[in-house]
Amino acid sequence: MSGFSAEWLDLREPFDARARATSPVTELKRHVTAGSSAAPLAIVDLGAGAGSNLRFLAPRLGGVQRWRLVDHDSRLLEASLTTTQAWAAARGAEARRSGSSLTIRAADFACEVECQAVDLVDLAAVELPERGLVTAAALLDLVSHDWLETLARRCRTARAAVLLALTYDGRTTPKPAEPEDPVVLAMFNRHQLFDKGFGPALGLRAAEAAETAFLDILPSELRGTMEALVIRARTPSPDRDLRGDHQRGEQRAEDAIAPREAKLRERIARHRIQQ
Ligand SMILES: C[S@@+](CC[C@H](N)C(=O)[O-])C[C@H]1O[C@@H](n2cnc3c(N)ncnc32)[C@H](O)[C@@H]1O
Repeated sequence: MSGFSAEWLDLREPFDARARATSPVTELKRHVTAGSSAAPLAIVDLGAGAGSNLRFLAPRLGGVQRWRLVDHDSRLLEASLTTTQAWAAARGAEARRSGSSLTIRAADFACEVECQAVDLVDLAAVELPERGLVTAAALLDLVSHDWLETLARRCRTARAAVLLALTYDGRTTPKPAEPEDPVVLAMFNRHQLFDKGFGPALGLRAAEAAETAFLDILPSELRGTMEALVIRARTPSPDRDLRGDHQRGEQRAEDAIAPREAKLRERIARHRIQQ
């Protein structure tokens, strides 16, 4: 079990999907061979949680895929299978569960999904796919610099493509703005740096550290191309604007946040009176 609940991951999934640029996926498809039944594209998702990265990527990647979802929380991995099965069925796909694996046949992709419950701190326990894809979403700010460098070296040895998404970089805009925002934000950013089991966490430096770690392992003739790709991926996409999102996720987030927010406001008001 980890500090991440399936409910929380479910609440953020629609927002994460809206926040993700699709251009890195388009770019990625130019560099990896699409999977076929004879040679499925092998994909490892590190810190997969309840599987939202798969649900974002699988239809966009297309072809035949073989996913391994890696996480140390077996409850989340179980949720990843049930949620993905329901998601696939809702898209009109055939989705069959057999023990701890899932097979999906959709109009736009097909995949086999299996799970690996393991502590990622020991990265050696995770086999990376040869010439496949290594991906992670919302993971990098938890890890340490050394861990990230090891990952970069292992990816290079496996000659795997890498897609790392949803890394917090410190840009936060509270809406509506409150006088306490700078304090809360400073506390949040400090908490980001606490050890989450991997050593001192990279927190808001993670995206930059990843750029350096992955550029450093490249042969010099490829660096220019990679730098161009990294910069393009960092540019906000037009679909990144979350305003005006009145979808299911927003309503549910509102419902979940409202009671807690009221309590927080009460505490702040009491605190002001006491001062
Ligand atoms: C912020 S969540 C992101 C989950 C998922 N990738 C997503 O985008 O919804 C971070 C995930 O990393 C996993 N995680 C954290 N530390 C881990 C560790 N030491 N070993 C394996 N998984 C870990 C958590 O269980 C959680 O599922």
